[in-house]
Amino acid sequence: MKKHLYLSGFMGAGKSRIGRELAALTEHPFYDSDKWIEEREGLTVREIFEQKGEAYFREAEKEALRHLAGRKEASIVALGGGAILDEENRRLLKETGTLVYIKTSPEAVFERVRHSKKRPLLTVAEGPGYEQALLQRIRQMLTEREPLYKEAEVIIERDGLSLSEIVEAVLKFAKLKPHSSTVKNHTGSDQKM
Ligand code: S3P
Repeated sequence: MKKHLYLSGFMGAGKSRIGRELAALTEHPFYDSDKWIEEREGLTVREIFEQKGEAYFREAEKEALRHLAGRKEASIVALGGGAILDEENRRLLKETGTLVYIKTSPEAVFERVRHSKKRPLLTVAEGPGYEQALLQRIRQMLTEREPLYKEAEVIIERDGLSLSEIVEAVLKFAKLKPHSSTVKNHTGSDQKM
């Protein structure tokens, strides 16, 4: 693969899950940029937002990406949903790997995040109107970010696809090889890839 493989997309797109599956099928290590930040800070993403603010988190995110992009070994990296907001991050990601956008509809995101308290940017007041307000927030953020997500080299629409179908699509379009696959070499015998 072209150095690293970066999985981008909105919150709840399943980037980490897909990344772990891909790593299990290939010989590449897997990293999750949010996890990297949480380990370094000793705080969860929500706590960082609450105690230090979003600007601090974005700086930490930038540092995480620089660190992960600089690794010698080609890696699979799940990005936080907002990593592509920063122009320098986008340039770094495109220069050091294949950027894959896991595209999801607002309705699918809503179903995946409605019961999660993990994401500070999707916190809306509980009570009547909660579901409508959350869906509205997701739609608005997705519309604003969509042009940036679409700068990715590979776009995979995940609605309606099973996890294994998505993983297969990433393998195919990002030209990743499962490590157990075999091909015939020119002498006709099997050759490990
Ligand atoms: C964010 C997405 C989150 C996390 C933070 C901000 C965003 O990651 O980085 O809450 O701005 O979209 P996930 O996409 O893994 O939820």
